[in-house]
Amino acid sequence: MKTSQAATLAVAASLVNAQNSTKYSNGTTAVVQLPSEWLYLLPQPFNSSIRYSWLNSTTTGNETINRALEEANNSRFVSYSDEFTQLVGPTPNISTIQCPPGAPECAFEAGVWLPDTDEVWFMYLDFDYPYNQSITSFSLRNNSAHQVVTNPPIRYPLGGYYYSYDGLVYLTEFNATTSPATIVTVDPKTLKATPILNSYQGIPLAPCDDVVVTRVNNKDYIFLTTFSIQDVLGSKFPRQRYDTAVWRFDLQEKVLQPVISANEIVAPNGIRVSPDGRTLYVTNTAITDQSKLEDQASNTTKSNSIYEYDLNDQGKPVNGRLYGLVRSGIANGLHIDNAGRVWTAEDDGINVRNAAGRLLGSFNYVPFHKVDQPRIGNFALAGNKLVIGVDSYVVIYDLAEKLVTPGNLLTN
Ligand SMILES: *[C@@H]1O[C@H](CO)[C@@H](O)[C@H](O)[C@H]1NC(C)=O
Ligand SMILES: *[C@@H]1O[C@H](CO)[C@@H](O)[C@H](O)[C@H]1NC(C)=O
Ligand SMILES: *[C@@H]1O[C@H](CO)[C@@H](O)[C@H](O)[C@H]1NC(C)=O
Ligand SMILES: *[C@@H]1O[C@H](CO)[C@@H](O)[C@H](O)[C@H]1NC(C)=O
Ligand SMILES: *[C@@H]1O[C@H](CO)[C@@H](O)[C@H](O)[C@H]1NC(C)=O
Ligand SMILES: *[C@@H]1O[C@H](CO)[C@@H](O)[C@H](O)[C@H]1NC(C)=O
Ligand SMILES: *[C@@H]1O[C@H](CO)[C@@H](O)[C@H](O)[C@H]1NC(C)=O
Ligand SMILES: *[C@@H]1O[C@H](CO)[C@@H](O)[C@H](O)[C@H]1NC(C)=O
Ligand SMILES: *[C@@H]1O[C@H](CO)[C@@H](O)[C@H](O)[C@H]1NC(C)=O
Ligand SMILES: *[C@@H]1O[C@H](CO)[C@@H](O)[C@H](O)[C@H]1NC(C)=O
Ligand SMILES: *[C@@H]1O[C@H](CO)[C@@H](O)[C@H](O)[C@H]1NC(C)=O
Repeated sequence: MKTSQAATLAVAASLVNAQNSTKYSNGTTAVVQLPSEWLYLLPQPFNSSIRYSWLNSTTTGNETINRALEEANNSRFVSYSDEFTQLVGPTPNISTIQCPPGAPECAFEAGVWLPDTDEVWFMYLDFDYPYNQSITSFSLRNNSAHQVVTNPPIRYPLGGYYYSYDGLVYLTEFNATTSPATIVTVDPKTLKATPILNSYQGIPLAPCDDVVVTRVNNKDYIFLTTFSIQDVLGSKFPRQRYDTAVWRFDLQEKVLQPVISANEIVAPNGIRVSPDGRTLYVTNTAITDQSKLEDQASNTTKSNSIYEYDLNDQGKPVNGRLYGLVRSGIANGLHIDNAGRVWTAEDDGINVRNAAGRLLGSFNYVPFHKVDQPRIGNFALAGNKLVIGVDSYVVIYDLAEKLVTPGNLLTN
């Protein structure tokens, strides 16, 4: 290293230390806290590319800033606020659990925490899973994993949600090209699987991605996202299905209704409700093709984004509005913590925003997940733990705050 570089690094270190950055005892940086101003004001000239994460691709004429961004790029925990730095804690414990034998690539979708048994369910990543069962349980008590065998088997679930009012896990059965997507409940005690809905007056549901259940004015509603047949999955799926919408099923009245049209959200994906049950968040996966991500900068109908809606007294989403834009790739899974913070799995990491939409910090994948590995799709908030599905294993961060608690009905 040249001495001028060493000097610059020392300056960078002191700069980030001043911003509450922390290190593990082995000297590895744990949390890097950057000034939040850099998210919206940089000294000119500067470069950045929409194809790569902002920490990886942004350079300015100021070497101090460049070095701090580089240090953040190499750190698992990147904070833009004291709130996030405190949530993470100075040196979070990091552990991993591998997928069980016979279930490779088991940890991609869902991320359902079952508080009673402290286990997290993940699903396989693709639509044509060659195995009969694609749910894997990761025990946070004994750090082991096993396949979940439901009766009957559920082959292609993608999204899942544990609804603590009835103690059931709601799953989206994505299923194959020839059969309808289905919403299925699983009783975690008996592992009995029960289909709830699969069609709209005979037209099969388009592939379902994610599901959430909520209570408004003492009535329970399922909200589900159906994937765009046209834009995301191509001709693989027959056209005789309703393309892309958010549907709602009223569990008391037993009514299935479309509530958000494909004209509003091109490709709804992750979906969750705020702790008070009155705000619905939906990720919009307009472009998934990595080579076309640039298009989103010049064509707003292709922006990968996050939307929010108010849930009115009738449990209908109203006042839909943009909540956030995705800086890198897509936003897939979305979860909400007790404080109403919105966590989304994006291509650069799990980004955490407060209810007002401010980016508080990021669980950066780059230091442990190579670019040519599959995208990280989803994760679970489990007590004070963040459990991230990394395809063939999960990584678990022990954080300093309770993110979701068994007593809270709606978050997870
Ligand atoms: C230092 O410790 C952290 C936390 O346990 C670990 O993730 C990291 O790999 C360690 N770094 C080295 C170089 O051993
Ligand atoms: C970082 O950006 C470079 C291009 O500047 C790209 O080649 C590389 O794949 C990116 N790495 C990550 C981890 O995004
Ligand atoms: C960011 O981290 C990745 C992975 O370690 C590395 O390939 C890339 O060069 C880094 N980018 C910068 C600007 O340091
Ligand atoms: C922007 O990128 C160009 C080409 O890589 C490079 O020559 C220039 O120094 C960069 N400017 C800044 C401010 O980083
Ligand atoms: C570079 O940026 C740092 C951090 O914002 C600032 O303290 C420093 O004055 C800047 N250096 C120059 C030469 O502008
Ligand atoms: C960050 O540093 C400031 C000033 O040193 C301090 O007041 C604040 O409590 C620190 N925040 C955290 C999260 O440690
Ligand atoms: C970190 O996690 C590992 C694995 O769960 C556990 O054995 C260890 O005791 C934990 N360390 C701390 C300091 O919590
Ligand atoms: C998977 O299901 C098929 C059809 O029901 C059955 O023939 C096969 O034995 C099952 N395989 C395993 C590993 O259970
Ligand atoms: C871990 O605990 C789960 C129950 O949560 C149990 O099904 C499993 O057999 C246990 N595994 C080991 C290796 O003890
Ligand atoms: C799922 O797909 C398989 C194979 O196409 C089919 O046999 C099964 O009936 C489907 N299940 C549901 C619930 O639609
Ligand atoms: C934006 O993308 C949409 C969807 O692909 C397309 O129909 C439209 O023509 C595009 N608009 C422009 C200005 O490129």
